[in-house]
Amino acid sequence: MMQFVSNTGGGKPVDFETAILDGFAIDGGLYVPETLPNITTKQLKKWKGLSYIELAFEVLSLFIERSVVSELDLKNILLTAYAPFENKEIIPIYPLQSKKKTYIMELFHGPTLSFKDVGLAFLVNLVNFFLERKKKHLTIIVATSGDTGPAAAYYAAGKSNLDAWVLYPKGWITEEQERQMTTLQHANIHPVGVSNCKEGSDDLDVIIAKLYANQSFKEKLNLSSVNSINWGRVMMQTVHYFYGYLQVVDTVGEQINMSVPSGAFGNLCAGGLAREMGLPIKYLIAANNKNACLHRIFSEGRFSKEEIVETVSSAIDILIPSNFWRFLYFRIGRDAEKIKKWINEFESTGQVTFDKETFNLYSKGFLSNSASDQETLEVINEIYKNENYLLDPHGAVSLVAADKLKNTLGNEKLICFATAHPSKFPEVVKQALHTAVLPKAAKHSNIENAKQLCEKVYLCDYKYLEKALIHAMETNWDLTKGK
Ligand SMILES: Cc1ncc(COP(=O)(O)O)c(C=O)c1O
Repeated sequence: MMQFVSNTGGGKPVDFETAILDGFAIDGGLYVPETLPNITTKQLKKWKGLSYIELAFEVLSLFIERSVVSELDLKNILLTAYAPFENKEIIPIYPLQSKKKTYIMELFHGPTLSFKDVGLAFLVNLVNFFLERKKKHLTIIVATSGDTGPAAAYYAAGKSNLDAWVLYPKGWITEEQERQMTTLQHANIHPVGVSNCKEGSDDLDVIIAKLYANQSFKEKLNLSSVNSINWGRVMMQTVHYFYGYLQVVDTVGEQINMSVPSGAFGNLCAGGLAREMGLPIKYLIAANNKNACLHRIFSEGRFSKEEIVETVSSAIDILIPSNFWRFLYFRIGRDAEKIKKWINEFESTGQVTFDKETFNLYSKGFLSNSASDQETLEVINEIYKNENYLLDPHGAVSLVAADKLKNTLGNEKLICFATAHPSKFPEVVKQALHTAVLPKAAKHSNIENAKQLCEKVYLCDYKYLEKALIHAMETNWDLTKGK
């Protein structure tokens, strides 16, 4: 049976179900499978032509034993998870007309219009399946830079085994993203708008880590997370790399490049692991905005925290790519001691400079770049003018980064990930297209509908957040479950 261990070495190996329900490992590390499945070209050839859901079933079956989730249950979970997607292809791929061999992978056709739906649709339904079977209740807590929150809340809404506390930094996300969380009326969804966050959603992660460390509180509420620290998110996100690859290649086995707008490295970590498993990706591009920690990691060998900058691609205004530690673990021969040492060094000094050997090990097959707001806005405008296709600012960052690297990339096909629908960022679209009137492509009925609903939200100042949250969460628990 596949076991999961912490990438910082603490605790004992656990089974798949425990890894999913716990979120973090017992020592605060991230769960990783003891072995990664190996996929051959022959296998990939067999998968060509499968629908997204059929392919997801095949890939997930490499990680999830039938004794843990039966074939029928896995199929049902997948069908339930993706039923709310508006496009029956789930992840359509658009070949750009004005750029040769370049494809846009549209990961935003889920109900909350970002790529977070792709991972969370499955993960929340899987968590719920385990909870129903165990007759248990879980309190999930997530911090969001704008898109995880809406997706986690949407999928948890109305599930009687779950309560979801969704923390967002007020002023750092768009009004449209905020309303996606606050207009849900379900009693088990608790959005918390936090004012005075100096470093956006990274500040909220600090508080969540403190709640996790509070053992009695954690146990009382049965606390867990569905942020990309949860192995289930990363595992599920490997599927769209396989899917995108199989959709665009003429011959299975040919290499392609993929460019991914990145913040916490959850999406790219999945891409890196898909390649470790055997997917023929030549380069993975870590596309950053001016919050360029990943660009520093992959170009200079330096993991460092710098001042946060507010950008037009606000969902990737993230300073600390925590999933990088998960990927690094695989690339350095699973040395948990080293990972622990580096994390401690980063936490005490704000910086780690990797030695040459480590840099060579992890950076192989990765490129990176950082897009300015100006470049991001210009590419949105250019593609819209050229072919009437509207990118969101994050998709645009992936295109800018790939463009800046075109001399290194070579002649292979390129998939740029579009991770959100432009309707979530109307002000940026107006700025990019130099217009006061939004084009139809920048509107979506889900966003429009939310404008007409009442909001229900907890509000709190960051200064008091830890205590205020414990109070709110415990009160809610006592009133609804405990007594
Ligand atoms: C629209 C969008 N693109 C990209 C990202 C970055 O993904 P990750 O944090 O997995 O790197 C996020 C979220 O963080 C997002 O909301």
